[in-house]
Amino acid sequence: MTNVMTRRLQRSDFEPIESLLRAAGNFTEVEAATAGEMVRASLDEPNTTYKVLVAERDGRSLGYALFGQTAFTDGTWDLYWIAVHPDAHGNGIGKTLLLAVEDEVRRSGGRILVIETSGRADYEKARRLYERRGYTRAAQIVDFYREGDDKLI
Ligand SMILES: CC(C)(COP(=O)(O)OP(=O)(O)OC[C@H]1O[C@@H](n2cnc3c(N)ncnc32)[C@H](O)[C@@H]1OP(=O)(O)O)[C@@H](O)C(=O)NCCC(=O)NCCS
Repeated sequence: MTNVMTRRLQRSDFEPIESLLRAAGNFTEVEAATAGEMVRASLDEPNTTYKVLVAERDGRSLGYALFGQTAFTDGTWDLYWIAVHPDAHGNGIGKTLLLAVEDEVRRSGGRILVIETSGRADYEKARRLYERRGYTRAAQIVDFYREGDDKLI
């Protein structure tokens, strides 16, 4: 069952987030490391535009979303990363995080939330989450990440 709350990032979330990124299975080591650095930057870089929301259940950090206003735009935001620990998939945690992001973007005057993802089979769960929330595909760049790996916006 869900019973999940979302809250701001704390330093004690760094390790659980880094470990869920490695457990996700569809991120390379470099992608997981970069995602972890972005999480740390959201607390430690003074000029960061990154914001992080963490999903917690029974005192355990089970997922997070990292997002921010896109530079040089008026009201456009990017969802840079979202991930839930594989042990907890399919419990509505991804959806809860996405709704919380949308809520914060809206309250901050955001008009558009852009999400980029991969067309690969192992990103099916992510695409499904976005489509179920009503996101429509604005573009597809064939072979963007590598041959056979498209970028979907
Ligand atoms: C994409 C991702 C974040 C989704 O997280 P999640 O917590 O499993 O997502 P949800 O549980 O909200 O939704 C998944 C399923 O659970 C179902 N669900 C939603 N609420 C539920 C609830 N309360 N109880 C049971 N199931 C529920 C949803 O209907 C959905 O099923 P569907 O696909 O058949 O519609 C997760 O798969 C993940 O971390 N993937 C690896 C990282 C990744 O690819 N990130 C995206 C990069 S672009």
